[in-house]
Amino acid sequence: MSIRNLDDLLAEGVSGRRVLVRADLNVPLDKQTGEITDDGRIRAVLPTLGALVSAGAKVVVCSHLGRPKGAPDPQFSLRPVAGRLGELLDAPVHFAEDTVGDSARSTVEALADGQVALLENLRFNKGETSKDDAERGAFADQLAAFGEAYVDDAFGAVHRKHASVFDVPARLPHVAGRLVLREVEVLSTLTGQPERPYVVVLGGSKVSDKLAVIEALLPTVDRLLIGGGMCFTFLKAQGHEVGSSLLEQEMVETCRNLMERSGGKILLPVDVVAADAFAPDAAHDTVPADGIPSKRVGLDIGPETVAGFAAALKGAKTIFWNGPMGVFEMAAFANGTRGVAEAIAKSGAFTVVGGGDSAAAVRALGLDDSAFGHISTGGGASLEYLEGKTLPGIAALEN
Ligand code: 3PG
Ligand code: MG
Repeated sequence: MSIRNLDDLLAEGVSGRRVLVRADLNVPLDKQTGEITDDGRIRAVLPTLGALVSAGAKVVVCSHLGRPKGAPDPQFSLRPVAGRLGELLDAPVHFAEDTVGDSARSTVEALADGQVALLENLRFNKGETSKDDAERGAFADQLAAFGEAYVDDAFGAVHRKHASVFDVPARLPHVAGRLVLREVEVLSTLTGQPERPYVVVLGGSKVSDKLAVIEALLPTVDRLLIGGGMCFTFLKAQGHEVGSSLLEQEMVETCRNLMERSGGKILLPVDVVAADAFAPDAAHDTVPADGIPSKRVGLDIGPETVAGFAAALKGAKTIFWNGPMGVFEMAAFANGTRGVAEAIAKSGAFTVVGGGDSAAAVRALGLDDSAFGHISTGGGASLEYLEGKTLPGIAALEN
C-alpha cells in the first residue's frame, strides 16, 4: 500500500513537534466497578506511543470509548484509561477534561518534549460521528489544531467515517502507526493468497452482521465453521427446530441459500448445550442440533461439535477466527469457545483472531496470546477489511 508510516515521520524528526495520535482505547469496563477488564487495546498502541516519546515528540492522544451520544457522559470517561496508559508507559499521562475545550488546549500547551496527553472521549462531541460533512469538518479543524502531524493507530475504528479518523488526516501530514500497519499487513495476507487449507471460524450472535463477510469468504475459504448464537438461524434453515435459541427469522431464507451455494464448505454444529434459561446457573445439557427441546435455549456448541471443528482445524495452514462459540462469559457455556480456541492455538497454522470479543475471550479463558499468530484489535474493522470494503480511515491515509 502507498501509505506513509511512522518510520517516515520519525525520519523527518519529531523532536519538539506536536503529534496527534488517533488510538482505539475503547476497552471493556466492568459494569459495576468501572474498572478496565481487558487492556489489550491500550497495550497495542504502546509501540507507536513509545517511539514518539523516545523521539521527543509532544504526543497528543485521542480516542473514543463506548457510544456516548455526542455529549459528556461520565460513565464513558477516558480518565481510567489515562491512568492505565501511564502505568504501561511508565510515565505520567496528562489527562484533559474535555476534547477540544479549555482543558484540552491548556493540557496540550503545557506538554514538554517526550510527554503524553490524552484528550477526553471524542464522542462527547457531536462533530465526531456526524453524518454532516461540515459539522464533522468543524470538529476536525479543532482537533487538527493540536497537532503538526497525525498518526492513525486506531485500527479498530478505521471502518468509521468519523472526524478523527477520516477528516483530520485531510488537514495534517498523516501516517499509519505501527499497529495499523501490522494489522493491514496481516489481513492483506488473508485477502491475497492465504496458504491452504484456509479455514474460517465464525461465531457471535448475529448472522446479519456476518452476512457480507460470509459472502465474500465463501469463494476463498476451504472450510467455514459456524458456531455461536448465529448458528441457530442456519440450523433453522436446515429444517431443525431451535427452541427459544437466538433466531433471526428474516435471515433463514438467506442462510438456506448460502448453504446451498457453499459447496459443502459450511460446517454447522451437530450438538449444542441447551439450557432452561439464559443464566449462569441454569439447568442445561447437551442435545443433538436437530433435537433442541422447544423450551430450551442453546447457549454453546456441544463436545461432538468441538471435536468435529477441531478435526477441520487440524492441518489447516491459515485460520481466521471471529466471534465466540457460546456465552463464554458464563463458565457453564464456555467450553465450546475454549475448545475451538485451543484447537486453533494447537493447529500450527498461521492464525488470526479478529474482534474485540474473541480477543477478550482468549484472555478471559486464560489462553496464551502468543499461541496465536495475530490478535486483531478490530472486530468490525477486520471483518470489513476481509469483505474488501474501502475503509474510510485507510483511504484517508492513502491520499
Ligand atoms: C470497536 O470496539 O469495535 C471499535 O472501537 C469501534 O467502536 P464502534 O463500533 O462503537 O464504532
Ligand atoms: Mg464494534
